[in-house]
Amino acid sequence: MFTEITEASAAFDSALEAANTAQTLDDLRVHYFGRKGGLIPTLFSRLKEVPKEQKKEVGDALNKLRDRIEAALGEKTARIVAEEASRKETRERLDVTLPARMPRLGHLHPITIARQEMEQIFREMGYSIDQGPEVETDWYNFEALNFTADHPARDTQDTFFLDVPGMLLRTHTSNMQIRGMEATKPPVKIFSAGRVFRRDEITMRRSPMFHQAEGFLVDRGIHIGHLRATLEHFIKRLFGEELQMRMRPSFFPFTEPSAEVDMSCIFCKGAGCGTCSQTGWMEILGCGMIHPQVLRNVDIDPEEWSGFAFGFGLDRAAMLKFDVPNIRTLFENDLRVLGQF
Ligand code: PHE
Repeated sequence: MFTEITEASAAFDSALEAANTAQTLDDLRVHYFGRKGGLIPTLFSRLKEVPKEQKKEVGDALNKLRDRIEAALGEKTARIVAEEASRKETRERLDVTLPARMPRLGHLHPITIARQEMEQIFREMGYSIDQGPEVETDWYNFEALNFTADHPARDTQDTFFLDVPGMLLRTHTSNMQIRGMEATKPPVKIFSAGRVFRRDEITMRRSPMFHQAEGFLVDRGIHIGHLRATLEHFIKRLFGEELQMRMRPSFFPFTEPSAEVDMSCIFCKGAGCGTCSQTGWMEILGCGMIHPQVLRNVDIDPEEWSGFAFGFGLDRAAMLKFDVPNIRTLFENDLRVLGQF
């Protein structure tokens, strides 16, 4: 009997160790104290088989075992039940009204935002929005725009030529004037933005790839007043009603007369500051009346039709609009920067 008691005692210790839920602890309690076949009552009932002189000693040992098991089971059950209750409470205490953790959302690139805003302004004025090829032929990029083969203005474009003769990366979006007038008989108004390429070093303000936007209109009786009014409306819508604009004579082979357009500096509003070199003005676009020869090149009679065209650097406009000092910022796609727009 002594060995059985010692064994039962050891078995209980490992069973208790393993029981970690209220349910398994209850199973243990039944195993030891169950009315039918519980180990402790069974052992007590066999006390009568024990010889008289050992009875007291065995009885004491059994009592001690029973008390120890009872106490240990009770203590651990109380602890586990309390733990389970507090876990349940913590679960139920979760505040479901807390705002969820949102995933980081992507959004439009600042150049796209600027482009869409510009497109909207011209769409409202009845322009179609078009897109053209970046790989272009000499005809659309130069020849049809009145840059003759030996025209010095070709040199100013620093063109990337492809291995295929007559093919190049477009140096400006003015190719869209030719493509647009070819595709649509006048009256026609098109606005088109896209990438252009020039052999330039990468600096604060220059990059060999940048974006331009082009707009043009051909109709009967179009004169430079229409051009000026259109640009003034555009600049004020994009940068602010309070801005002034001015036109300075300039030269492009495909427009005559040609002009460079300045707007009052958006930082000092014309007072003069570091950004505008104290002039109060910022150069923003090139424009002019479409050259009669360009119209003839696409079979439009310059006696019947006339038009204007304008083009500008989209990146520079976006840099001004979003106050970004370095053009590379717009092309490096650093999420820490892009996340601010
Ligand atoms: N294509 C010219 C440039 O790249 C801009 C321009 C467009 C000028 C249309 C006049 C008319 O600078």
